[in-house]
Amino acid sequence: MKITVIGTGYVGLVTGACLAEMGNHVLCLDVDPRKIEILLGGGIPIHEPGLLEIVRRNAQAGRLEFTTDIPRSVAHGTLQFIAVGTPPDEDGSADLQYVLAAARNIGRLMTDYKVVIDKSTVPVGTADKVRAAVRDELERRGLGDTAFSVVSNPEFLKEGAAVADFTRPDRVVVGVDDGDDRAAMLMRSLYAPFVRNRDRLLVMDIKSAEFTKYAANAMLATRISFMNELSRLAERLGADIEAVRIGIGSDPRIGTHFLYAGAGYGGSCFPKDVKALARTAAEAGLPSQMMGAVEAVNEAQKLVLAAKVVAAYGEDLRGRTFAVWGLAFKPNTDDMREAPSRVLLAELVRRGARVQAYDPVAAEEAARVLALDLGQHPAQAGIHFAASAQEALAGADALVIVTEWKEFRTPDFEQLAARLADRRVFDGRNLYEPAMMKSFGLRYESIGRPAV
Ligand code: NAI
Repeated sequence: MKITVIGTGYVGLVTGACLAEMGNHVLCLDVDPRKIEILLGGGIPIHEPGLLEIVRRNAQAGRLEFTTDIPRSVAHGTLQFIAVGTPPDEDGSADLQYVLAAARNIGRLMTDYKVVIDKSTVPVGTADKVRAAVRDELERRGLGDTAFSVVSNPEFLKEGAAVADFTRPDRVVVGVDDGDDRAAMLMRSLYAPFVRNRDRLLVMDIKSAEFTKYAANAMLATRISFMNELSRLAERLGADIEAVRIGIGSDPRIGTHFLYAGAGYGGSCFPKDVKALARTAAEAGLPSQMMGAVEAVNEAQKLVLAAKVVAAYGEDLRGRTFAVWGLAFKPNTDDMREAPSRVLLAELVRRGARVQAYDPVAAEEAARVLALDLGQHPAQAGIHFAASAQEALAGADALVIVTEWKEFRTPDFEQLAARLADRRVFDGRNLYEPAMMKSFGLRYESIGRPAV
């Protein structure tokens, strides 16, 4: 099939590459010439395990192309995936300007049947707006009766495991209009290679498909905030949240997945989707109590690591040096959007501390976003980037762990104790056994567990 993917970010690039891998001829469009240049040069603009190989293989085979040329992109695909960003507007609602701009481009230039597919996360009712935008542009050209379909196909991939999630999905959700057999058939055949088990292709009405994505992210964010709130209570009461997690997770109605207390959720999706769902609920006249609480708990949780440092060292951190391991909002990505590390670092340097930060892949992106957060070059604010986890420890008083990269899981504990002047570790991801840390002479504070 001929496919256009509009927006070549995390979702668009993975979608385009994985669809090309199945033999489709995919053209990826982006308005950002820098991204397209990198892709045309044989690289990828993001860190995502396994993606570079697929992009290269399919680009070489001529099945995956990249462009900034909008007329070419509209002419190319019968299927037009919209995978542009939907960032939060000032009031928390999803900003649809990029989605609707993409839809208008299609209507302005299409000459034959197209399926316009919303892959971006968009509020319930967006498909109607997309349809109106395409129709408006067609009518303006006197082509009002040109046939096209609008489909909702929200994406559930996880950054860091995006290729595996896309190629072996738990489910694919497709929302089509009642009776739009043509679009339904095209979507079924497109996804057939990915959902050999056909139960995993869920075809439903468009509004339910749009809503499913928000419901999924809201549920996941709720689980995290729930565990984070309990972790604070566990600390106060002297209980161990890890024991509690296992204790409740073994009930299949609860399940063990995604039940970890930590330093707060970040990323491009949960924060904005929780806000957007709250906004949708308010606009619908049914304000959500839960979404506000989920967000508030998370905002507070992002401050927990800094609060532990302050409890240990006092408000004034001048003269102190902290090693920080992990900057990306989660492992296996360089995505820094809404990362809890940004809150921690701002708090530390605001109080005069020096920071030696290490992340296996996100340092460059971190330097960029921290410069914006702090209004100055990170080095001027006292943040230095180390080339390795070991290097970050040199001369540090204490270590703070924010992201659970695998390489942090089994460090040389003796060396850790020897290098940290205060032999102190603040762990925002509960990577280690407290008793073991104690046995190495380390003072260890984690989330929701007694300090040792
Ligand atoms: P991103 O910011 O990485 O990529 C969006 C791309 O769209 C950018 O490269 C931008 O330059 C481009 N763009 C904007 N307007 C355009 C236009 N008119 N024509 C062509 N390109 C245009 O965003 P990301 O993370 O890929 O997210 C995209 C959507 O997918 C969002 O709605 C997000 O909520 C959703 N999503 C994201 C997931 C993730 O893990 N990142 C997972 C599931 C859904």
